[in-house]
Amino acid sequence: MRIYTLLFAFLLFTRLATSQTNVTVDVKGGKHTISKHIYGHFAEHLGNCIYGGFYVGEENRTIAHQGGVRLDVVDALKKLKIPNLRWPGGCFADTYHWKDGVGPKEKRPTIVNTWWGGVTEDNSYGTHNFLNMCELLQTEPYLSANVGSGTVQELAEWMQYTTFDGISPMSLWRKQNGREQPWKVKFWGVGNEAWGCGGNMRPEHYVDVYRQYATFMTGWDNSNKVFRIASGANSSDYNWTEVLMRDIPHHMLEGVALHHYSVIDWNKKSSATGFTEAEYFTTLQRALFMDELIEKHSAIMDKYDPTKKIALVVDEWGGWYDVEKGTNPGFLFQQNTMRDAMIAGVTLNIFQNHSDRVRMANLAQTINVLQAVILTKEEKMILTPTYHVMEMYNVHQDATLLPVQLQSPYYKMGNEQLKSVSASASINAAGEIHLTLVNIHATESQEVSIDLQSGKAVFNTITGRILTSKKLQDHNTFDNPRNIQPITYTGAILNNNILKAKLPPFSVVVLKVK
Ligand code: AHR
Repeated sequence: MRIYTLLFAFLLFTRLATSQTNVTVDVKGGKHTISKHIYGHFAEHLGNCIYGGFYVGEENRTIAHQGGVRLDVVDALKKLKIPNLRWPGGCFADTYHWKDGVGPKEKRPTIVNTWWGGVTEDNSYGTHNFLNMCELLQTEPYLSANVGSGTVQELAEWMQYTTFDGISPMSLWRKQNGREQPWKVKFWGVGNEAWGCGGNMRPEHYVDVYRQYATFMTGWDNSNKVFRIASGANSSDYNWTEVLMRDIPHHMLEGVALHHYSVIDWNKKSSATGFTEAEYFTTLQRALFMDELIEKHSAIMDKYDPTKKIALVVDEWGGWYDVEKGTNPGFLFQQNTMRDAMIAGVTLNIFQNHSDRVRMANLAQTINVLQAVILTKEEKMILTPTYHVMEMYNVHQDATLLPVQLQSPYYKMGNEQLKSVSASASINAAGEIHLTLVNIHATESQEVSIDLQSGKAVFNTITGRILTSKKLQDHNTFDNPRNIQPITYTGAILNNNILKAKLPPFSVVVLKVK
């Protein structure tokens, strides 16, 4: 009898241990703003991101557009409140000469897009198209400059062309090309992946190149407040960050980049939709590695910049799988499933919980490339599960991060384990608290108990939305565009500032408490 009692107690204990998550939110303890810029996107001249994605040409008669930019896309992205958009690359940026893309279209030279499919780039979409499109999207441009095959003068002239208000050869040329007023461009990337497609440089060499470029990007005092972003490390290349932080004078550096993709194996990726649970687990493991990457890169930055003046800018992140069958391998077109929703949810929670240092990020890429938020097929457009997560989370933009403590059971696969639940929280100017919770477990629900530690203030109302589905591999298609979309969530109870919520397997929930 005693052995049965013990067995029962053990089973009860393990059941509780594997299904109960406890969270505390320090409602009074907020110190850092969650920069809206961590919700940035990325648009490269790659596959059908620009051509066919954003831009269908001024002469298009079948798709509604303004200046060639699809209006369905503009509408969808405005709902996301995208704060910034990075362009024109990526690897493409270090082959791009901006002067090829301004002036009369019939006179523009063509180039070969060597990195992405070897296709001919006709330069019909250029600086005016992009910067006008940013105005339409009400988003801030982030121009990625050519350092790998460009010149210091080319970059200085691009800055003058786009932003100079006075009389100069470049501002006059801009006016002749139809734009009287300068645009506002704050964010400038000084090269891309300088360790790879941007020139295969050693960090010591890149540092000197950066210093030279950065010198000619501003006046003595950077009075026009240009935000220069140095090409950053490839995932765990901590030495890259060390050399940059040590050898670039900090008055000429506003941001240091970091790129990290959730890829199982560069030589053997997985299918975007036909993946196994083991492949799902490994992809999430790669995504969660972002936390360690940020901690370690930040620790190096802290050593040289203890007041955290310089931002860590994760300007490429997302899942990377095999391309869809029958598509150009150089176009990186992949479908987007609940696995991607999980990547987005946990990654945004990680960024938010590191708001003190991570102040900008760019999901790769916006349309038809890698972990896209939008897919297009001629006149059709669909929103992906990743889109829905970005939209659900945008309530955190520019709110104050609230410290969260979390104890979660593990999701196990062989000898590996991952925390099942991830969370972050913020409070906005109206005193509303938003919590975003992700349960990555493929088969188990999680009971979550959230203690809102707020002193005397009592919260009375709770509302929520959830994104979930039947199968991890579920996705939206052009024939079934609303297969996955957020719905109202009624699974939470609020009592005496204790919130109880049940999270189904692989779900993302956003809760609002007042
Ligand atoms: O996003 C696709 C490519 O990935 C980018 O062009 C490059 O920077 C990275 O390697």
